[in-house]
Amino acid sequence: MRLVTNIAVLVSGRGSNLQSIIDSIGSGYLKARISVVVSDVGDAYALLRAKKHGIDAVFVNPENFASKELYEKEILKVLKTHDIELVLLAGYMRILGKTLLLSYKNRILNIHPALLPAFTGLHAQKQAFDHGVKVAGCTVHFVDETLDGGPIILQRCVEVKENDTPETLADRILEQEHKIYPEAVKLFIENRLRIEGKKVKILQS
Ligand code: GAR
Repeated sequence: MRLVTNIAVLVSGRGSNLQSIIDSIGSGYLKARISVVVSDVGDAYALLRAKKHGIDAVFVNPENFASKELYEKEILKVLKTHDIELVLLAGYMRILGKTLLLSYKNRILNIHPALLPAFTGLHAQKQAFDHGVKVAGCTVHFVDETLDGGPIILQRCVEVKENDTPETLADRILEQEHKIYPEAVKLFIENRLRIEGKKVKILQS
């Protein structure tokens, strides 16, 4: 790993988690550089955020490709062009295929708005709310071929209040997402994560 880690962020939407990484780099908390932001949605607000910060923002339209493999090969081309070492999924709403997973094995992280392994997939905060959990939260994990099932790096709890709605709960979870994603990226960058089977060991600095 170089002195400044070269990151790509994959997004599909508003990009508040992207912003938390941008801000963590800006403050000096993360010794990293976001070289490119890739979106599968043309009008994702995250692309505008990237441009505002002088980061290359690329829309790769899945509709232009006959298969997931061809689509991901195009993304891979973008990542290679930018010499990317670490890929962050930040609200990227697609399941990754072999092309990206094999090329960036154990170098792709994801943030998920639930305490995994509970409530995988879409609308995790609402799933948790509807289930009546008393404690919700978020998870940063390595991405593997399972749906939201890769080795867990960090989790943070959020208490569910009596007067919560799915929206107020999601807002408080998001606040924690913005904290733990930069923390997990820092651990990765400092080479302090060791995957041992399903577990991730965090080494002391
Ligand atoms: C975040 O809550 C993130 O955890 C979630 O999408 C939102 C994106 O918000 N991701 C998933 O649900 C992935 N399974 P953002 O675009 O403002 O970062």
